[in-house]
Amino acid sequence: MKKRAEKRRIVLVPLPLQGHITPMMQLGQALNLKGFSSHNFPDFEFVTIPESLPVSEIEAFGPVEFLIKLNETSEANFKNCIAQLLLQQGNDIACIIYDDLMYFSEAAAKEFKLPSIIFSTTSVTHKVCCCVLSKLNASKFLIDMEDHELQNKVVENLYPLSYKDLPTSGFGPLELYLELCKEVVNKRTASAVIINTTSCLESSSLSWLQQEFKIPVYPLGPLHITASVPSSLLEEDRSCIEWLNKQKPRSVIYISFGSLALMETKEVVEMAWGLYDSNQPFLWVIRSGSESLPEEISKMVSEKGYIVKWAPQQEVLEHRAVGGFWSHCGWNSTLESIVEGVPMICRPFNGEQKLNAMYIESVWRIGIQLKGEEERGGVKRAVKRLIVEEEGACMRERAHGLREKIKASVRCGGASYNALDELVKFLNTE
Ligand code: UDX
Repeated sequence: MKKRAEKRRIVLVPLPLQGHITPMMQLGQALNLKGFSSHNFPDFEFVTIPESLPVSEIEAFGPVEFLIKLNETSEANFKNCIAQLLLQQGNDIACIIYDDLMYFSEAAAKEFKLPSIIFSTTSVTHKVCCCVLSKLNASKFLIDMEDHELQNKVVENLYPLSYKDLPTSGFGPLELYLELCKEVVNKRTASAVIINTTSCLESSSLSWLQQEFKIPVYPLGPLHITASVPSSLLEEDRSCIEWLNKQKPRSVIYISFGSLALMETKEVVEMAWGLYDSNQPFLWVIRSGSESLPEEISKMVSEKGYIVKWAPQQEVLEHRAVGGFWSHCGWNSTLESIVEGVPMICRPFNGEQKLNAMYIESVWRIGIQLKGEEERGGVKRAVKRLIVEEEGACMRERAHGLREKIKASVRCGGASYNALDELVKFLNTE
């Protein structure tokens, strides 16, 4: 590794949400290990882009509108931040790497003639879907989505993806979502794209994107294997590991819906009853401030399970007692589960989660997809299928097969390992 004094810095611009901060920090750590610098933490320096949207306005926006406004209003503030950094610490910035939802960053890179790279923290298939969506004429597409024949049609060159799989709902009006997609897939003057995936998971989508973008695409994931770094915004309750230590191998179903998803109390209660009736031990993350479980039900289910507000998820998934993961299918959770060879029950909520669930169930065949809210009988049935029955054992076997392929891809000479090396070479020549 080069001495710190010789290291060049990289500016990373994450979307300030847990599921996006984590992969960005991991990417920073991976590059740091390859000789690029930052300062503390132990090698990161944090700079805040001043807020540009009044809190009162933020509260009135839906998520998509918020992101569009955030990009509109952050451009000037971010340019000031970069100007300050260049002034204080000299011209040693090798590159600006930004989350594809923080596309305002590109203007500063252009103004200060700095190379820039887009980082897509979700799957490459999701990126491809955004490209497809932004190509479709927005108003025509809105009408066509009523057409059942079209919905079941495979998107050209993208088998097994059909039009109904394109992520379009859950975050407010479709028109606005299409507007955001258009911005997200606009590569502007960026020199390359980094994706937190690996070729053995999504090879056809990767080829599609490479052809479409005509700039280098680096699939160097899953980054949490290459460069683990503490990035949790909430305090992890480690007592669940002691509880897991007392459970039988592969008997526990771990339940977590990431950092954002919200459920109605009615669904939580049905889940609690279904879990209780399944007779399988379970570890359940119920975030504070989210859905709540009535006190008496909480007491009752605690006989068979363990509830925490936030878990050390990767450690949980690694644990020998865990036999399945009931997930909302956020991309980080999906990768973390596959890497530990844990099969899944999929309960997608919004964004690209439905797309990830489709891949889990139908492409990699390592999980069961729920069609939406389940009553207690459906919950019990899904848990049994995954943890106890032969069907679940086959999914576990396939998940283990994928795990081996992924681990090979991050080892010296593997596809993701090579992609990271190529990225570093690219950064050193920019
Ligand atoms: C968001 C979007 O919802 C998701 O669709 C997108 O793919 C990424 O951004 P989030 O919903 O938080 O993310 O889900 P996910 O991507 O799975 O990330 C959650 C992260 O929090 C994971 O890294 C997971 O390990 C961590 N986590 C979750 C914990 O550490 N403890 C917990 O108890 C729950």
